[in-house]
Amino acid sequence: MDDVRRQTILDELRHATRASHDRLEQRLDLLAQPADRDHFIAVLRGFLGFHRGFEPSLSHHGEFAGWLAERSQIAALRADLTALGVDDAAIDDAPVCRAAAELTEDRARTWGALYVIEGSTLGGQVITRHLAGTPWLPAGGLRTFHPYGSQTGHMWNEFRARLVAATTSLDPLDVTGGAVSTFSLLAEWLPTRSMNAQHRT
Ligand code: HEM
Repeated sequence: MDDVRRQTILDELRHATRASHDRLEQRLDLLAQPADRDHFIAVLRGFLGFHRGFEPSLSHHGEFAGWLAERSQIAALRADLTALGVDDAAIDDAPVCRAAAELTEDRARTWGALYVIEGSTLGGQVITRHLAGTPWLPAGGLRTFHPYGSQTGHMWNEFRARLVAATTSLDPLDVTGGAVSTFSLLAEWLPTRSMNAQHRT
């Protein structure tokens, strides 16, 4: 693997997904002040449904078993919802995002999807700082947004190195296409703040 290629796929991913990242970030509006507890609960339920659709489908490819074992987000999502007072029945009832399984239909697109999921831990650091001191925040904060604690940078770098090595022989357009599709699906699937406000009225 050469350094030119290393730069290229990571740069291409960042470049190809910049607009979809910013669109999702705007739609989620998680940095609004004051932090809206009901909206965070709805977003966490949405992510849980997404991961319940996505993660089981990863087991079709042996190469992602390690990712699942080390980085599954389902336990953190459940723990956060419980800490926010959501009961087990409501957690179990979170709708499953069936379309998320389609993101894993080929290897290259799956790496693109994992790029999006792992990258969310970077934005998660910003959200974690934003939530600090919020009265309804459970002790220890929301794990979903800082699943790796002080290891976030290390885990991100390790993931990127694995992605570069694994995608050398794959078409970069498939990898970036998988990442863009993942952002689009999340933008469709996750609730916006105005949707939650409508449910409350
Ligand atoms: C809603 C609030 C969000 C904020 C404020 C935010 C903010 C950020 C910031 C500041 C970075 C750059 C960090 C750095 O370079 O050190 C970043 C990177 C990234 N975020 Fe977000 N983000 C948010 C949501 C998300 C979500 C929901 C996802 C995906 C599920 C996501 C995926 C990514 C990815 C893939 C990167 C890596 C970009 C790269 O290749 O460098 N972000 N985000």
